[in-house]
Amino acid sequence: MHILVLNGPNLNMLGIREPEHYGTQTLADLIAMIEDEAQRLGITVECYQSNHEGDLVDKIQAAYGKADGILINPAAYTHTSVALLDAVKAVQIPTVEVHISDPDTRDEFRKISYIRQACIATVKGKGFAGYLEGLRILADYAKK
Ligand code: DQA
Repeated sequence: MHILVLNGPNLNMLGIREPEHYGTQTLADLIAMIEDEAQRLGITVECYQSNHEGDLVDKIQAAYGKADGILINPAAYTHTSVALLDAVKAVQIPTVEVHISDPDTRDEFRKISYIRQACIATVKGKGFAGYLEGLRILADYAKK
């Protein structure tokens, strides 16, 4: 089983960026945690981060026929991107939306998630641990 893990804009700044929302650990720390959990679950992962919407669309399209699941933190594109929603709908790969913070309890504009309607689950407000929960959700879903 193979999972594509996508992180959107500004998540390369984890550790520096708004630690009150995102903590002090880095993207490299997050990827190490995800790879450990993947090994424990006996699955493979590819982790990719981009600040560019089209790159994320390209990555989702390229997963067609290759990945069994997508775990995505679209970051700010959560609240703006119909293109990411359409990409997930196009490939029909089971997808879990993850957020480090809980966007639903922050600014009004963060309450909208376009991608959510194409996702099998959303994990939010659980810090980096939310990614591990998302991986487990996808692993369980693929077994059904
Ligand atoms: C985020 C929440 C978004 O509102 C924000 O734009 C991000 C990160 C999170 O992980 O909590 O960049 O997706």
